[in-house]
Amino acid sequence: MGLHRSSRIAGLGRYVPRRVLTNADLERMVDTTDEWITVRTGIKERRVAAPEEATSDLALEAAREALERAGVDAADLDLILVGTASPDMIFPATACLVQERLGAKRAGAVDVSAACSSFVYALGLAHAQIVAGLAERVLVVGADTLSRITNWKDRATCVLFGDSAGAAVVVPSDSQAGLLSFWLGADGGGSSLLSLPAGGSRLPASYETVERAQHYIHMNGPEVFKFASRIIPRAIEEACQRAGVSADEVDLFIPHQANVRIIQAAAERLRQPLEKFYVNVHKYGNTSSASVPVALYEAVEEGRVKPGDLVVLVAFGGGLTWASCALRWG
Ligand code: UT7
Repeated sequence: MGLHRSSRIAGLGRYVPRRVLTNADLERMVDTTDEWITVRTGIKERRVAAPEEATSDLALEAAREALERAGVDAADLDLILVGTASPDMIFPATACLVQERLGAKRAGAVDVSAACSSFVYALGLAHAQIVAGLAERVLVVGADTLSRITNWKDRATCVLFGDSAGAAVVVPSDSQAGLLSFWLGADGGGSSLLSLPAGGSRLPASYETVERAQHYIHMNGPEVFKFASRIIPRAIEEACQRAGVSADEVDLFIPHQANVRIIQAAAERLRQPLEKFYVNVHKYGNTSSASVPVALYEAVEEGRVKPGDLVVLVAFGGGLTWASCALRWG
């Protein structure tokens, strides 16, 4: 492959909490119906973390599996990146908690905060570290426990989200297989469309912020929907262009799992068959940073991604942010 150094995913891991929350369960909690949720989103059930589980616990399980499958010892990791919008605490970084529990003594550790785009963003940063020769083995995790920042009285948001974690071990690549291109984008002009308003330095926690339910996710659903339907096709095309391939050549698209209608709209705009888009949103809902790595993990497990396949990952989320990556599986 000449002098150009690249990177590849050497192993994937996944963790989904045991507890299943179905649409029927939600019917008993808020004024909603299984029909509304299914027709508007495609979601049938989602997972909810146990009371004693926090984001770092989910991340740790996914990370352990990814390391085992990659045959990489935690002690040999150079860097740990945890993409999350629901860290255990504002600081220290959740990545540091994972680092300690893995025994990754040589690794730097930092969180990547790009809401639902965090995993693909972190994957891009891991790739850059490896290509630059600054790291040899990077653990990238996408983990979220949105159930802890969901307003369970708000039917417009509480039916959408779920908890889980996915992880990838990224190493240098000396073959054609690997991460081929990235596009990391943002539009801060849309920052108010999807946010957790309080608990930071702008609106520190107070009785008022609690009373106003400002420690929960606030979202303008229809505006985020429009943004997502527009940006997914653009981000896929950009990743393809940067990799020197066409969307027609792509074997499988792995989009952020937020809403099956968003995925359908993106497929139509790209004039690509829906069968080329991996979907598991019916099982897990929107698991934020975890959605793309969990979907990739399951696509590989199910044989939907085979060695040599061209795959495009694409995510969008609060920020607003988006991120896409073309890769050759190997
Ligand atoms: O990771 C990125 C995060 N976010 C997203 O990707 C979300 C993007 N947005 C969406 O997926 C959709 O906008 C939603 C699924 C959130 C909402 O679907 P929609 O078709 O945009 O519905 P809407 O918000 O326009 O609401 C339509 C109606 C409203 O009633 P009225 O005003 O027409 O009488 C809502 O009050 O549906 C009502 N509604 C519900 N009804 C039953 C909202 N939530 C519910 C619910 N059950 N859970």
